[in-house]
Amino acid sequence: MIRKIATKNLEIGMFVSDVGRAWFNHPWKTKSRLISERSEVDELLKFGITEVYIDTDKSIKKPRPDGPSLKPKMPPVPARPAPAIRQIKAEEISTPLEEEFPRAAKAYNKALDTSKALVAACRMNKRIEVSEVKENVDALCESVSRNRDALTALIKLRHFDDYTYTHSLNVSVLSISTGKALGLSDSDLKILGMGTMFHDLGKLRIPDQILNKPGKLTDDEFAVMRSHATMSAEILTEQNLGVDDQVIQVARSHHERIDGSGYPDQLMGGQIPPLATICGLSDVYDALTSDRVYHKGMLPHDALKFIYGLRGSHFQPDWVDRFIQSVGIYPPGSVVELNTGHLAVIMEVSNRSLLTPLVKVVADPHGQIYSRTKLVDLSKPAESQGWTISKVVPPSEAGFDPAYYFNFKESV
Ligand SMILES: [Fe+2]
Ligand SMILES: [Fe+2]
Repeated sequence: MIRKIATKNLEIGMFVSDVGRAWFNHPWKTKSRLISERSEVDELLKFGITEVYIDTDKSIKKPRPDGPSLKPKMPPVPARPAPAIRQIKAEEISTPLEEEFPRAAKAYNKALDTSKALVAACRMNKRIEVSEVKENVDALCESVSRNRDALTALIKLRHFDDYTYTHSLNVSVLSISTGKALGLSDSDLKILGMGTMFHDLGKLRIPDQILNKPGKLTDDEFAVMRSHATMSAEILTEQNLGVDDQVIQVARSHHERIDGSGYPDQLMGGQIPPLATICGLSDVYDALTSDRVYHKGMLPHDALKFIYGLRGSHFQPDWVDRFIQSVGIYPPGSVVELNTGHLAVIMEVSNRSLLTPLVKVVADPHGQIYSRTKLVDLSKPAESQGWTISKVVPPSEAGFDPAYYFNFKESV
């Protein structure tokens, strides 16, 4: 039974089923947990959360029999697949960011060249060089294994290049990074990397006037557009490239949605392959956050809010949570304003709570850039001196280029 109780009355052993706040507005990684320490209650109180919902069936410690009983707030969700992956795994970060960043930049640039060659080959109906793609995917997987934040920062900091070339590569980076955070095996990561690199190949066979139409597509045009997923799979099969079936499956199923509204096979719930789900989430995220000819990309946290809205309808709720946890509300490379007005660049999010990344404080409250910056771990009270993130600053309004703080110079 779900009961609403005052946060101050929470006790160790009670199961909180919902903190009653949006995901970005509470201190926990998920909205539910079994209280095992008093500090968890204090965290909620510090956030101004005065009431929570507890599930008495899951609680070891029962509340006193008062207060009205309530129905669960969350709508019922479709049957879940037996997930191959259970939760975000704590990773060992073996390589410091500053050491990995130049290597990641090299791997990214090489992969971008391959992505361009892939597009050209497909447009001219030439054979795809799978071994080259494989080599690049291996390099991306290795970089992510050494430090997940380097490549994800990189895709945020780059400004140039055509969406046609960068989209599949960015989806690949986001997917590998998410897969790594979820503890996928190396071979699954490589399959995911390949599948995502190829996921939109079929779009190269869609006529330009439909692909780049600025207005709304007609029903017929939309049907043509949707055929790209099947065509991506067909290109890979018809060329007899010897790629793993699961790679083809990622390409074919990246637009499937759990309520059956996706395409091409209207798969539902657990029928959708997990790797295709990761590709689908990364695909939506990259499409929303990328600058295009006709519109400016959303800020990452707005895109994640949008994706959160697809929870339970388009994507399994727990997969959405895992994706958000992995990408971070403030991805590396973002500029934020702190509660004191200082400006900071997000440096590292891996293995951290969503709201307390490692930041570099680069400007004072008047926007004056410091000549010597300071790295601050917002999760450590002794370092953060009460600093919290108050808002995201769009890169165009920051007054500086965050890439500078990663020692990153674009060679385009
Ligand atoms: Fe697609
Ligand atoms: Fe896509």
